[in-house]
Amino acid sequence: METVLSGIQPTGKLHLGNYIGAVKNWVKIQEEYRCFYMIADLHSLTTHSGKAEEINDNVMDIYMDLLACGIDVKKSVLFIQSAVPAHTQLHLILSMITPLGWLERNPTFKEKKTELTNTDLNNYGFLGYPVLQAADILLYKASKVPVGMDQIPHLEITREITRKFNSIFKDYFPEPTPLLTEVPKIAGIDGRKMSKSYDNAIYLSDTPEVLEKKLKKFITDPAKVYKDDPGDPEKCTVYPFYKIFINEAKKKETAKGCKDGTRPCVQCKKEIADTINHELIGYRDKKEKYKKNMDFINKTIIDNNKKANEVAIKHIKEIYRLTGMDYEW
Ligand code: TRP
Repeated sequence: METVLSGIQPTGKLHLGNYIGAVKNWVKIQEEYRCFYMIADLHSLTTHSGKAEEINDNVMDIYMDLLACGIDVKKSVLFIQSAVPAHTQLHLILSMITPLGWLERNPTFKEKKTELTNTDLNNYGFLGYPVLQAADILLYKASKVPVGMDQIPHLEITREITRKFNSIFKDYFPEPTPLLTEVPKIAGIDGRKMSKSYDNAIYLSDTPEVLEKKLKKFITDPAKVYKDDPGDPEKCTVYPFYKIFINEAKKKETAKGCKDGTRPCVQCKKEIADTINHELIGYRDKKEKYKKNMDFINKTIIDNNKKANEVAIKHIKEIYRLTGMDYEW
């Protein structure tokens, strides 16, 4: 079985974009791969340094969300990055062979610098973000990394670092490839990409009522003013949900109704809210149970951190030995 590793930053609560773009796929591939999933709390320090309480709350909430969505710890290891110290050890080793140019050219680095003007990003750790990500992946010798399009540049840097390491230290790591999740980008309430930083997201933890209320605010074709005006589904932010949550046939029927003016926007919004709420029934049930059973959650976290550490320690000792540091610790 091939090994998979993926991670999510605890910079906010899980939203529908994370669920569609990552978590659903993580759940699905558990059958085919040996999966390691982690909450990347060290990575979140690049933008959230000093916000200890917020990070810790998010880690716990996301951990329960992932379990409630169907990450099964009998099949996969679900752990917290900072509880496996070898991530930082490998990060340092890899940082010694990573040319600065690779990091300075990283498009996410440039993008975030222009976007997050209120955050001080003028630090060494932020530039090294992709090196830490490479350490995450390589520490488990993962060969597949399920990610969205936005992470491709980071994965490309991981691949470059892998080749460089392998050329020096005789092909130790497999060269990881992306498992791309092909999902349409979904918009948030304001029409921009759904994101915690835009404050426009539907959160998994939203109640059915809040979810319905938020969906009502989604932007549809502005030319469809009255309910029997014809509309253009391609200009509607609710329309993509038909393909994601229902099916192609229903999507076609909806498009036709929209174009010929027989389908009011409120009907689509209600239908989609009901469908998503229905899909989330199992999640909401489990999340409630987990929240009332923190002993179980804490024990699960400890068990899983241990499992990750077993693999990580074995590999980092081999890597240290390769690099010339073969001492007992
Ligand atoms: N950078 C990823 C994101 O922001 C999170 C992440 C950290 C990750 N380490 C990883 C993803 C390793 C894949 C593999 O979404």
